[in-house]
Amino acid sequence: MREIGAIIFDLDGVITDTAEYHYLAWKQLAEELGVHFDRAFNERLKGVSRMDSLHMILNHGGIVLSEHEMNELAHKKNEHYKTFIQQITPDDLLPGIVPFLNEIKAAEIPTALASASKNARPVIRQLKIESYLDTIVDAATVKNGKPDPEIFLKAANQLAVNPEECVGVEDAEAGVESIKAAGMYAVGLGSKKAMAKADWIIDHPSQLTLKALRGHIG
Ligand code: G6P
Ligand code: MG
Repeated sequence: MREIGAIIFDLDGVITDTAEYHYLAWKQLAEELGVHFDRAFNERLKGVSRMDSLHMILNHGGIVLSEHEMNELAHKKNEHYKTFIQQITPDDLLPGIVPFLNEIKAAEIPTALASASKNARPVIRQLKIESYLDTIVDAATVKNGKPDPEIFLKAANQLAVNPEECVGVEDAEAGVESIKAAGMYAVGLGSKKAMAKADWIIDHPSQLTLKALRGHIG
């Protein structure tokens, strides 16, 4: 990559700590179903769509349900999640994110949001960062969820930037796989184990600066 053509962000767990709210909402549902649920299992759900996450929890507990029952459970989890996100304000932006977004804007590098969440738009609005994002991929229009590259490729396409010139920022294993499958440079936020496939691993968003990123891209 000669120059960074675009930076594409995941939302939950990267820009704000909604990954924790997804975790708490799934944990409550799993416990109601009598399925053991811990943070290690939750790592596998990060970046994964609502229905696919539910399938994984049910499989894990050896539970078979009808489609109607599954829709009800997915709805229930989402209602619980929505009560958490109602309280989100700009104070919930993770430290380091706004300075990085300002730096990107000053450098005139286009940005996109590639979140699998159907709640992404209200969260972005509550965080008051719409003006920093040139485009948002609507999760409802993506056929194949992460780790498929579709969502990151769609973001690059909406920005009219070649995927090879894009940097993706993720906290999910499935998300890093999606970025790499799209042929992009992957920044992974999280443990060395979970982010093993990322090109640059960071443990906090405050490490994100253009200088550091360019230094790692080389
Ligand atoms: C993101 C989160 C996942 C979540 C998915 C769907 O990818 O990392 O934990 O399951 O979005 O979110 P939604 O808000 O549509 O249920
Ligand atoms: Mg995430």
